[in-house]
Amino acid sequence: MSNYHVKTLEEYFQVYRKSVRNPELFWEEIAEEHFVWRKKWNNVLSYDFSKPEIKWFEGAKLNITENCIDRHLQIRGDKTAILLEPNNPDERAEHISYKELHKRVCKFANVLKENGIKKGDRVCIYLPMIPELAISVLACARIGAVHSVVFAGFSSTALSTRINDCEAKMVITSDGSYRGAKTIDLKGIVDEAIESCECIDTVLVAKRIDSEINMKENRDKWLQPLLDEASENCEPEIMDAEDPLFILYTSGSTGSPKGMLHTTAGYMIYTAYTFKNVFNYKENDVYWCTADIGWITGHSYIVYGPLANGATTVMFEGVPSYPDFGRFWEIVEKHKVNQFYTAPTAIRSLAKEKLDFVDQYDLSSLKVLGTVGEPINEEAWHWYNDNVGKKKSPIVDTWWQTETGGMMISPMPYITPTKPTYATLPLPGVQLALMDENGEEIKGNQVDGRLCVKYPWPSMARTIWGNHQRYKDTYFSAFENKYFTGDGALRDEVGYYRITGRVDDVIIVSGHNLGTAPIEDAINEHPAVAESAIVGFPHDVKGNALYGYVILKDVGESRNHDNLRKEINQIITEHIGPIAKLNKIQFTVGLPKTRSGKIMRRILRKIAHNELDNLGDVSTLLNPEVVQSIIDDRL
Ligand code: PRX
Repeated sequence: MSNYHVKTLEEYFQVYRKSVRNPELFWEEIAEEHFVWRKKWNNVLSYDFSKPEIKWFEGAKLNITENCIDRHLQIRGDKTAILLEPNNPDERAEHISYKELHKRVCKFANVLKENGIKKGDRVCIYLPMIPELAISVLACARIGAVHSVVFAGFSSTALSTRINDCEAKMVITSDGSYRGAKTIDLKGIVDEAIESCECIDTVLVAKRIDSEINMKENRDKWLQPLLDEASENCEPEIMDAEDPLFILYTSGSTGSPKGMLHTTAGYMIYTAYTFKNVFNYKENDVYWCTADIGWITGHSYIVYGPLANGATTVMFEGVPSYPDFGRFWEIVEKHKVNQFYTAPTAIRSLAKEKLDFVDQYDLSSLKVLGTVGEPINEEAWHWYNDNVGKKKSPIVDTWWQTETGGMMISPMPYITPTKPTYATLPLPGVQLALMDENGEEIKGNQVDGRLCVKYPWPSMARTIWGNHQRYKDTYFSAFENKYFTGDGALRDEVGYYRITGRVDDVIIVSGHNLGTAPIEDAINEHPAVAESAIVGFPHDVKGNALYGYVILKDVGESRNHDNLRKEINQIITEHIGPIAKLNKIQFTVGLPKTRSGKIMRRILRKIAHNELDNLGDVSTLLNPEVVQSIIDDRL
């Protein structure tokens, strides 16, 4: 039996049991058989959740790019590694072979070195979905620099916060980007962001849209001439298993974004293993994940997981609605995509359009469909299953997080019977627990509780960059000796898990995690605003949308409320990005507060959900009278 590729349900249970009985042996066998090591480990795992400290494969030496690129050169050098489908369907797709990828990553790595980047330095990458994005990520890993990719939809303020937090020395960006019919001035956003970033020495600029941009002398450099000059040889930096690989920011319920730090060996093994099994990946498959590399899904399942398996991974620069709503399916037909991985929000938005957008394309290449990022509702699940998968491609509803590095709960296609809205069973090596509010584990089936993981898995984030205490407080303090996910879940009669949603103040909008605090901070910057509170409410495409309750400083504020709403959304766009804009903004005279001054979001949430019957006891509030006035004025 090969642990690496599970083939039957029975084998899944056997492998799962083995992974629990002896996790170290389980992962060690996988590591031994499937990866290239410069030196083997002394110890598979040591951990202490009370600190918390987690170390996998200590003593091992490796470079992840050697595993993702070099070792494929002999056997699949001419195979397409990255297949780039551009925004504009009339532009030709680019096929980058493993050999070509090797050359381009080495050249890029040499450019980084020549520009002063060394092992351990942080490099911020703010690029659209063009080849340079994947290549720069790999180039950093080649020389041991720590990449921190910031999704190129984030605003300049959000970008500068992230650059300053990790003290990046360099930003890699482009002159602009295409998104559907729009072009975006990325370099302008970078210029604005780094006005407040003293740590940045160099900005490398890839050319994408050929626009006139400002280049600051001694700081900004066009990338292409440097690449043209650079050598094609770059020996990989030999890294320790636990050396940092990347930082990726994710929103918390309070405070600034958290820079989740992922390390090298465990992350590599886990993403490779889960990619292989969850997509039932076979050598000649064409795999496409529609996420952006700016999110963890793109890191783990566009770049590292697929390349570690020598796969062909599609990168798509555009959007699902351009030039029309058939774009995804046109690409599936054109490249004969076998595995297709997307977010429920994309499915819901396409399900609203005419079926003809799907039906006109030949989707018979598809073998596995995946979803990630938020719960998938039953209607969207069936639409996906019926119209895209034609009821013959299993749907893998994969639950995981930026913090987990890789998928944690998911069916294995053709093995685990699927059930709409259920992520089903934990993957091998993942030991889950549902906890009650008193901190006790809830055993048995047909129960629900707070979802925790009770044993380390190789790709878990090791810390929050620069704030280990926050890492401990956020993930390891709610329940003793367990990693707390922040999600609620239920376990059905056969042990399948269904994620019920966040139990904290994180709201998932269109699959993107948004913390309420930074949005409220942004709103409060508006000169007319005294205070604000954000909650989520159900939305048929986005899953959740944002509802803002805003108190104005001057109650008699005479300005047009619609203009104020636009200004508030403008401020949010500037501080965070358009993804955090509010769908509804209600101006109110007060917010319900406890006697200690805490905003009772529970009540606001119920009002936004229009669930007025069970608001609970409001009489103990500091200001019970505002509740009725908020109800009366609700939108
Ligand atoms: O609430 C869960 C939800 O997304 C959160 C993690 O978000 P992020 O770190 O941005 O990573 C998203 C991509 C891995 C989780 O805490 N979530 C993710 N996948 C699912 C999900 N909720 C329900 N079902 C899923 N399949």
